[in-house]
Amino acid sequence: MAQLWGGRFTKETDQLVYDFNASIKFDKKLYREDITGSKAHVKMLAKVGILTDEEAIDIEHELDNILTNIENGNLVIDETCEDIHSFVETCLIKKLGDVGKKLHTGRSRNDQVALDMRLYTRKQLELVDADLKDFLEVILRIMKENITTIMPGFTHLQKAQPITVAHHFGAYFEMFKRDRQRIFDIRERMNYCPLGSGALAGTTYNLDREYTAEILGFKGPTLNSMDGVSDRDYLIEFLSALSIIMMHLSRFSEEVIIWNSNEYQFVEIDDAYSTGSSIMPQKKNPDIAELVRGKTGRVYGALMSLLTTMKGIPLAYNKDMQEDKELAFDAIETAKNCIVLFRGMIDTIKFNKEIMRNSAKNGFTNATDAADYLVKHGVPFRDAHGIVGRIVLYCIEKNIGIEDMSLDELKEISEVFEEDVYDAISLETCVNTRLTIGAPSVKSMEYSIKKETDYLKNS
Ligand code: ARG
Repeated sequence: MAQLWGGRFTKETDQLVYDFNASIKFDKKLYREDITGSKAHVKMLAKVGILTDEEAIDIEHELDNILTNIENGNLVIDETCEDIHSFVETCLIKKLGDVGKKLHTGRSRNDQVALDMRLYTRKQLELVDADLKDFLEVILRIMKENITTIMPGFTHLQKAQPITVAHHFGAYFEMFKRDRQRIFDIRERMNYCPLGSGALAGTTYNLDREYTAEILGFKGPTLNSMDGVSDRDYLIEFLSALSIIMMHLSRFSEEVIIWNSNEYQFVEIDDAYSTGSSIMPQKKNPDIAELVRGKTGRVYGALMSLLTTMKGIPLAYNKDMQEDKELAFDAIETAKNCIVLFRGMIDTIKFNKEIMRNSAKNGFTNATDAADYLVKHGVPFRDAHGIVGRIVLYCIEKNIGIEDMSLDELKEISEVFEEDVYDAISLETCVNTRLTIGAPSVKSMEYSIKKETDYLKNS
């Protein structure tokens, strides 16, 4: 057992209690942030005259050594320490003696851990953003290449109207773009430095909190020391943003699984992103998409868990808050892995364009356009809807498409039809006459793709 306190205790801590309380097994992940925070603290202590310049230089130098040695494997983090903060401080004291003991002046582990977690989260927000950006590049490439690749669009998982692969992927572009905007907003809101909040009530030392904040790249210090040590909103926001990302990935996964199924065969997942069956030799399974869909529950779980942990905690710091770490670490790693793997799968997916087109053709996806044709020739829409409904019934019976009916057959149901109806209900016309912003026509998609390209360039 190695802990930083003990003066007021008359007995050793029970080993089970010690283990239950200790966090080093998971917060050792924060060694870099902990050292970065300590260096900034020391610089500031020297600036305000609490440490001499020499003391500060020695401590900073030794903190750098500790960091290098952890990273190159020469220093193994001792898991008998209570937490990463105790470990770093103990190492420092071992090297520097009394000078090392001055590091914690004007600081509490409460504001220390609040800072470490913020530094970690800020970095992770940036990494998730970069992963999302890479993913958007892939989606945009697929959009550009498939502006005329026709497929059925669905509602209720029933074929509805023809769209294109570019249009379908464009929907996901918008979703992941919003996800990036959410990440950006969270970073803006959380980028204030809690160090200097002390245990809860600030300190009696004249700390220059603005200076510490500046060194660490924050916009400034947090404005209330009680809130500074007990705020985990930013983490809840991050887990919430990750949950939304996972929800988007999960919907996308579901579609890929359906498209890749034997019944649809719209796409083929690359061998590198598929797995086989131990018994059924013919199988090629979409496990990556299924796992991404499955792991969504795990990330939602982390969000629910932290919300629940935080809901009953009186101000200020309470040990419950230590529970933020394992679940946040796990959710962040999970989400990052999912984005990267999903991107790889989508980047290598093959579109069976013929099958997609035929599927759009065979599903009466031009029925709305047939009704619109009648409307343009003076039939009220509700009547046109009924007429085309009868046409569809007729076609189902004969197992043909509307465009396969002869003009005589069509005229039998409505006199209004003329030869030009065939052009009006072709898949190309159905797609390319939808010219509103955001619609699937080539013209509309070119507009959207230009906007999305500019967005990626400038973000
Ligand atoms: N391991 C603790 C955490 O993660 C660090 C802060 C401990 N502070 C304290 N007063 N016990 O929250």
